[in-house]
This record gives sequence, C-alpha cells and structure tokens, in this order.
Amino acid sequence: MGAIAVIGLHWGDEGKGRIVDFLAQKCNGVVRYNGGPNAGHTLVVNNEVFKLHLIPSGILYTGKINIIGNGVIIDPSTLIEEIDGLKNRNFLNGQLFISDRAPVLFPYHKLIDELEESIRGSFSLGTTKKGVGPGYTDEVNRSGLRIVDLISDSFEEKLRRVWNLKVKLSPALDGRLDISDVIKAYKEYSIILKPYITDTVGLLHRLISEDTSLLFEGAQGFLLDVNFGTYPYVSSSESSISGVFSGSGINSKQLEKVYGVAKSYMTRVGSGPFPTELKDNFGEYLREKGKEYGTTTGRPRRCGWLDCIATKFSCQINGVDGIYLTKLDVLEGLQEVNVCIGYEYEGERLDYFPASLEVLSECKPIYEKFPGWRMEGRNLPKNAISFISFIEEFLGTKVLGVSVGPQRESFIDLC
Ligand code: IMP
Repeated sequence: MGAIAVIGLHWGDEGKGRIVDFLAQKCNGVVRYNGGPNAGHTLVVNNEVFKLHLIPSGILYTGKINIIGNGVIIDPSTLIEEIDGLKNRNFLNGQLFISDRAPVLFPYHKLIDELEESIRGSFSLGTTKKGVGPGYTDEVNRSGLRIVDLISDSFEEKLRRVWNLKVKLSPALDGRLDISDVIKAYKEYSIILKPYITDTVGLLHRLISEDTSLLFEGAQGFLLDVNFGTYPYVSSSESSISGVFSGSGINSKQLEKVYGVAKSYMTRVGSGPFPTELKDNFGEYLREKGKEYGTTTGRPRRCGWLDCIATKFSCQINGVDGIYLTKLDVLEGLQEVNVCIGYEYEGERLDYFPASLEVLSECKPIYEKFPGWRMEGRNLPKNAISFISFIEEFLGTKVLGVSVGPQRESFIDLC
C-alpha cells in the first residue's frame, strides 16, 4: 500500500472517517488535505465517541503519522481544543505535523461568514459559519496569513496590515473586534502549536521515497467541490482528487489508488438542490435511523435515496478504483429500496448531472426499485447483494466493502 486517497462522493458525511479508520490500520500515516473546522468526522472506538474536525483520523491509532496539509485552513483555537481533548482522553496517540504553508482562520472570517449569510437572506448557502469561505477567499486574494506567518516575528505587523485593509473595505467590521486582543491570543496559540509545525511537503516526499504507506483523507464531499459541485451551494475548497495534490504537495505519479465513499442513501446539510430528497415522513425515518445530524453544527441533515447519476459523476472525475458503501444497515427492514438512475426534466430524460442549478432543482428522479432485506448477522442477504451488484454495474466500479453499523467491527470487507 503506497499513497491512497479517500474521497467522499456525495455532499459530505458519507462516513469517510470510518473508512479511513479501517484503512488506517494497514498504513503508516494519514494526511488531511482540504477543508477546515467546517468538517467533522465521528468515530467510535471501544464504545467511545470521537468527533474530529482538523486532526486526521489516524490519531486514534498508536504510532501513526498524522499530517495536516497545506490545503487545510486552520482555526488555531479549534485545533488546540482538539489536541487537548485527545490528550485528556489519552488518545493523542501518533505523531502530529502541521503544514507551515496552511492558511489561518481569524475571528473576522467567522464574522464575515455570519454577516454574508444574514445579508443573503433567503438565498443563504447554509454554511457552517466557521469562516471557511472568507478564509479561503483571503488566501486566493493574497490577503491571508499562513501558519509560517503566525510563528514569525512579523506576525503582528502583517495581521495589522490585513486588518486595516479589511476594515477599510468592509466598514461593517469596524468596532466588532479588538485586533490587539486577537494578536495576543494568536501569539499564545503559536507557542502551543509551534512544536507540531513543519515543512510537510518535504516530509511527505521523504516518507513516500522511503515507501511509507499514506492515506490521504478528504473533508466534505465531491458534490461540495468548489469547481464541480452544486455551485454556489458548495464549500470553498477542492474536495475532488485535485485537492490531494494542491493541498498536500505530492504529485500525481505518487498516488497509487483512489477510493470513493458513498452512503447507501444520500444526505445533505445546508441549502442547494438535492433531486432525490425525501421531504416526507420517510426522510424523517432515515434521519432518525441513520442519526443524520451534523457533527460540526448539529443541524439535521436532509435525507433521500441514493442518486447514482450524481455518484457516477463523482466516480468519473475522481477516477475511483473502487468504492466503499456505508450505512447499509440503515436501509435494512424496508419493504423497498430505491436508487435514482436518471432524471426527468421537462419531459426529457437526462443521464448526466447538470451544471445549471435551475435545471437540477427541477429534475425528477427516475428510480430503479429493489426489494428490501433483513441482515443475518454479518452475512449479506441475497437482496442486499443484488442492490450492491446493481450499483457496481451502474457506476462501473467495484464495491470494496460495506459498513453495517458504527462500530469498527461492523464492517464487511468484500475484497
Ligand atoms: P462552509 O464550508 O461552512 O462554507 O459551508 C458551505 C456548504 O458546505 C454548506 O452547505 C455546509 O453545510 C456544507 N459543508 C461544509 N462542510 C461540510 C461537512 O463536513 N459535511 C457536510 N457538509 C458540509
């Protein structure tokens, strides 16, 4: 096992953390390459629940290398809270490295996120309000600060320069926070984080040249990718395969495999079109049975049937070598299970995922129906196998494993 990427194929919350946790057993390290405190992974180890936002899931294993790459936007206070939380529970097991090139979030990013969302009113994006969009915007606009700036002697001067620009351009920010307090707090954060900060690009290239097996763990999901997702109802980072390279510094020749993670049904938090959404009691049933509430914000997730058109689009662009299907147990006991295999739009059939949100919002799913099943211990019943085989054929890729419960053991390896 060399360098392997794990990508969520939907709108996030596919259960990537769980698959990374499974694959992490066989590898030496885990690398996060995109997203920030907007992300959330829930993991259950020995009946203990862990919610991670910035630290890679490999931290729950002894002796693994955990790298936060340059594509991850870092809120130092969240990161320190996470480090302390793990330390207090004796679970900060492996080594942790933070990229010196990673962009930093400041309290004004959160403020801007909140202000923008309230001004958008009924067109709000439903962001997590963690400041991630404004933070990445600053990076692209060249008015961001990076971890290397945070630990430098010129940090205060740089931050005051940026703040001056911000207040001049956005008078709504003036008087909302005292930048001197921010500087004081961030200087303290930099002392705490300094031991973990390094040139992760150099580290990654050295590790790969030494045949160290590494898992690249994506945050969010492909349909939230800023380039290919349901724009503008997306997050602000590259959650597609390209994020692995731009967010870690490895090159395409070093990546051996790409695995996708799809849920057996679909969920979405925040706004934006969702063709197979179930707005009835049945959607509510899936939400309760699947415990579909956001790890980061606690918001109820919108639920619907598996959309194979959207999932196929994800598989194609990310070039997946196989997929993991999660939460199959949530569909257990139903009379009938549906899978979307096309859209009907203005009387025509569409077999692709349209770019126009107006079109996507009007698409009516065309379903293939499957008889339900009941699990028999760890054996997959015949009807569940037919459901999986259909998905494999439709997507043109193998289902490598399925999860049938939240515990580490509730995983069926199909390889
Ligand atoms: P932002 O990333 O906070 O700007 O939010 C943009 C959109 O991405 C919103 O619809 C969020 O609900 C969604 N989003 C961001 N992070 C996650 C995640 O980790 N899981 C699911 N949805 C997410």
